[in-house]
Amino acid sequence: MSPRIAVVGSNMVDLITYVTRMPGRGETIEAPRFEMGAGGKGANQGVAAARLGSDVLMVGKVGDDVFGQNTIANFRDAGIDARHVGVVPGASSGVAPIFVEPSGENSILIIKGANAHLRPADVDAATDDLLGCDLILLQLEVPLETVYYAIAFAARHGKQVLLNPAPATPDLDLAKLRDVTFLAPNRSELSLLTGLPTETAMAVETAARRLLDAGIATVIVTLGSDGLLLVTQAGIRHIPAVPVQPVDTTGAGDAFIGSFAHFYVRSHDVADALHWAVRYAAVSVTRRGTQKSYVDAAAFREFCSAIAGGMPPA
Ligand code: RIB
Repeated sequence: MSPRIAVVGSNMVDLITYVTRMPGRGETIEAPRFEMGAGGKGANQGVAAARLGSDVLMVGKVGDDVFGQNTIANFRDAGIDARHVGVVPGASSGVAPIFVEPSGENSILIIKGANAHLRPADVDAATDDLLGCDLILLQLEVPLETVYYAIAFAARHGKQVLLNPAPATPDLDLAKLRDVTFLAPNRSELSLLTGLPTETAMAVETAARRLLDAGIATVIVTLGSDGLLLVTQAGIRHIPAVPVQPVDTTGAGDAFIGSFAHFYVRSHDVADALHWAVRYAAVSVTRRGTQKSYVDAAAFREFCSAIAGGMPPA
C-alpha cells in the first residue's frame, strides 16, 4: 500500500492583493493586481503533498457558502480524500486577505470562520481513516483543543505527527506537545514557544534545544533564506536554502511542510526529505499565489535538474 498523509487542519480562501506598498493608516492607495485562490495552512500542506503524488486525507470544516463548495471541489480536483471535510451550517468559510509587496514578502489576516468549529469529535469520527495514515499534519488555524486532542490521539495509536505551530500563538502549552514526532516552527514561532530570543544562530540553537528538553523528538526550525536547522538529541544540522528570486512567498512554509511529508513517508530519512522540501519551497516562491504556486512532480524534477543537489526520488 502506498503511504498516506492526513491533515487535521484548516482551509481558507485567499484574497491576495499585490501592492506597490502598504497603505498608511487612513490612506487609500491603488494596487495593481488581485487574485483569489485556495489557501489555509492545512489545505496548502495537503495540496502540496498531493501535487507531488501523495495519497492525502483531509479532516476539516468549511462554511455553508460558495467558498465552502469551492474548497471541497478544490480538494477533489487535487485528488484529496475530503470525506471528512464537514459543512458547518450558518458559518462562513475561512478567508484570508493577503497583501504581497514587490519584495515578495506578505502580510496575512485570517478569519477562521468554519475552521473554528473543528472539534475533537471530528478527529474521533475519522478514526478508521486516520489509522490508515503514516503521518498526521497539524497547524494552529483550528481550535487548540482539537490540536492537543489529535496529538494525544496519534500517541495513543502509535501514529507519527508533525505540528507546524503557525500562526504563532502565545497560548500554546508546551507540555501538551511532547508527543509530537516533529515540531516545525519558524524563528518567531520558536521564540514565542520557548520565551527565548531567536535573533542569532546561537540563540536559535539554544531555543530549539529547549524544545528537545521538553520531550520533543525532532525540531525543524525554518529560517527563510537562511535555510533550516534540524535539531535532535543526535546533534544539529544546518540545511541551506536554495537561492531564488522571490515573486510571492505566500504559502512557501506550507509547501515546505507538505513536500517534507511527501518525501518523509516514503524514505523515513528526515535529512533527505528536508533536502527536497527546501527545493520544493524554493519553487513556490518563484510563482504567484498560494496553492497555485505548488508544482507537480514532473515540474519539480525539471526545477531540480537545473540546480545543484541531484534529482528527487520518483
Ligand atoms: O501559510 C499561508 C496561508 O496562511 C495562506 O494560504 C492563508 O490562507 C493563511 O492560512
